[in-house]
Amino acid sequence: MSFDKVRIITLPKFLDTRGNLSVIEGTKDIPFRIERTYWIYDVPGGEKRGGHAYKNNQEFIVALSGSFDVVLDDGHERRTYSLNRSYYGLYVPRGLWRVMENFSTNSFALIVASIKYDKDDYIYEYREFVQSAKIN
Ligand code: TYD
Repeated sequence: MSFDKVRIITLPKFLDTRGNLSVIEGTKDIPFRIERTYWIYDVPGGEKRGGHAYKNNQEFIVALSGSFDVVLDDGHERRTYSLNRSYYGLYVPRGLWRVMENFSTNSFALIVASIKYDKDDYIYEYREFVQSAKIN
């Protein structure tokens, strides 16, 4: 899998003096049906999350509060995407190694996923990932 499909997607934004509103609708705003939502919060300074690849799961990641970096790796190169606004996010297709790091204090990462939690969908070994990236 390459970076071809990776992209920052700007979400609909309804500006209002009462407060702004943004929305993610599966298959309309992002290219998959949403099967699962999880979030990462209370990350201690310097900690990293992720450090794995998914065989099938696709994700869309939004910094609902604060900022953090998503580092993607296709087995050849690494690219860093900084997220710091609640009205856009990063689309991460299947088959990329991903680490989340550099979390600011009180940051809040929202992640919507295309499949239910399945530990067999994870590749935890970087070397195994590089091998699978060569085949696919
Ligand atoms: P994991 O995906 O390994 O976190 P990280 O993003 O740091 O790699 O998940 C951490 C723990 O949370 C693990 O014990 C499994 C559990 N978990 C679920 O039960 N459901 C989920 O949807 C996710 C993402 C994690």
